[in-house]
Amino acid sequence: MNIMRVEAKQARVDTENTDALVLMFCEGEGLPKEEGVILDRALGGALRELLQSKEFDGKAGEVVVFHTHRKIPAKRLILVGLGKKQELGLDHIRQAMGHAAKRVRQAKCQAFTVALPSVVPQEASPIDVGQTMTEGAILGSYQFTTYRSDTPGKAVTAMTVLAPRKDQLPQLSEGIRRGVATAEATVFVRDLCNHPSNVMTPTRIAQEAKTVAKEVGVNLKILEQKEMERLGMGALLGVAKGSHEPPKFIILQYQGAKKKDDRPVVLVGKTITFDTGGISLKPAENMEQMKADMTGGAEVLAAMRAAARLKLPLNLISILPAAENMPGGRAMRPGDVVKTLSGKTVEVQNTDAEGRLILSDGLAYATRFKPAVLIDIATLTGACVVALGQFAIGMFGTDATLKEAIRKAGLRAGERVWEMPLWEEYFEQLRSDVADMRNIGGRGGGMITAALFLSKFVGDTPWVHLDIASTDWSERERAYIPKGPTGIGTRLLIQFLINRSL
Ligand code: BES
Ligand code: MN
Ligand code: ZN
Repeated sequence: MNIMRVEAKQARVDTENTDALVLMFCEGEGLPKEEGVILDRALGGALRELLQSKEFDGKAGEVVVFHTHRKIPAKRLILVGLGKKQELGLDHIRQAMGHAAKRVRQAKCQAFTVALPSVVPQEASPIDVGQTMTEGAILGSYQFTTYRSDTPGKAVTAMTVLAPRKDQLPQLSEGIRRGVATAEATVFVRDLCNHPSNVMTPTRIAQEAKTVAKEVGVNLKILEQKEMERLGMGALLGVAKGSHEPPKFIILQYQGAKKKDDRPVVLVGKTITFDTGGISLKPAENMEQMKADMTGGAEVLAAMRAAARLKLPLNLISILPAAENMPGGRAMRPGDVVKTLSGKTVEVQNTDAEGRLILSDGLAYATRFKPAVLIDIATLTGACVVALGQFAIGMFGTDATLKEAIRKAGLRAGERVWEMPLWEEYFEQLRSDVADMRNIGGRGGGMITAALFLSKFVGDTPWVHLDIASTDWSERERAYIPKGPTGIGTRLLIQFLINRSL
């Protein structure tokens, strides 16, 4: 998909010639200072009249389109609500821009202009505002149309952000640059997740990684099945056995730090291109959503691309253990024992707990790079769906500083995490009679026992695990989140990398 072009410009709202001019309002605050007053005067008091009628009040999610009859050069005004001034956060701006961009598309405009909001959240810099406005607009207008013969309305191709003062432009432009990077990465992830699994196989994922590596000039290594056998990745190979699709173990490496031997940030993403459950077959209902079981992998690939494009001054490695979980004739059986790359053995009591198996080899491999920090992201457990629902990513970790940095990045990105306990007591649920551990924890604390399982493969590396099951897929369309794959976690990861580079 072509990404919307976004630029900043210094100009007055009442002299801009555009098909649509977007103006943001806080609830019950009357006309936005300066811009609102200027426009109202030019329109002969029409905005004031509208507000007085209470038809539009600036509530979050409210949108009104207003034709100007050329009393000003802009053809239409689109008014969007930000909600209450006291509660205003960056995500309200992101949401308002998502609503606005959709309305622009409905009005069949390909380009639009938006005024900087006159009120911004406390502690938000112009960079933050530019970034979130850009994210909201690009993500709100996302559509996946690859397999459709009908064309559901032309895409919006350009947005101009108007700043009243020239000295605001450098920061605003930097924000836009970051916003384009994070939004584009999210769009990339949504696209990869939307493709069906007959297309997005481990082989295709490897091709996507090749394209990324070539485009941004990072190092790429792909381990084929033979190599994995030689290394002893028994867990990943065990999962892949039930499928005709060959597994791929993908490693991308970016050297951006001044010192070449600076310890890298290592990201590992669960890349199951389809999860049937294997012999422990899943029920049919909603199984199609398991095409997005490679979200984590797509995200660490997207984060790699963004970091290289932004030329962040750090060393970064992304690892994608990629396989398909199928119940074929050679598939793993419940009760099978596999030997992981780490040397630890695992009794596979349930072949549907495959994410932790491929990640155990992914994480063990990651520790070979002596990471400064290690982060994995995975659509790991149905228990996460039950515990946290649609609005929080489950977080576990061994390092307080790293957890705090992830928490901050998530808050800033509008992709919030919630910490869960990683207490050793839970390990009794993972004990096996025949191997070092088993791959399921029985009833209770399913998200926790999965995380604890992973912790056994990271050694003493500072590590965080993010469970994005449930948040990775939205049941309904929201302001800047589509129905289906959301790409959640992408902006968090990139924001974490940006913050670490400052
Ligand atoms: N990919 C699933 C988890 C999942 C469920 C993601 C729903 C998104 C939405 C994972 O591989 C899985 O099947 N987990 C099992 C583990 C269980 C057998 C211990 C689960 O949570 O049911
Ligand atoms: Mn599964
Ligand atoms: Zn899975």
